[in-house]
Amino acid sequence: MKKWQKVETQVPDTDFVMQVVAAGKKLCLIRDENRLFAVQNTCPHAGGILSGGWCKHGQIVCPIHRYTYNLQNGRGAAGQGDAIRTYAVEQRVDGIYVELAESWFKSLFS
Ligand code: FES
Repeated sequence: MKKWQKVETQVPDTDFVMQVVAAGKKLCLIRDENRLFAVQNTCPHAGGILSGGWCKHGQIVCPIHRYTYNLQNGRGAAGQGDAIRTYAVEQRVDGIYVELAESWFKSLFS
């Protein structure tokens, strides 16, 4: 089951790449050309922190070995053979929300 969770971190109005927290989970939140994206924070290649990277042509670039991942579908560039998780994200009146999966354990008791 998925649930919209509010991003607890303050973010700028301009374009950015930064680590945020929602429901205790660290994510990489991106505003690129005024569009919001949320992706996993850890690079699948060797554990680089994607929120320390930057955007280029609709891709997030990992700062460690510069692998790139599509912001919309998470696919790695040709030849990488990997992908990152992407999350639905919404700007609402009271802040930014991301849609996260609830753990099966938590969903039993809520
Ligand atoms: S750790 Fe991200 S490209 Fe290697």
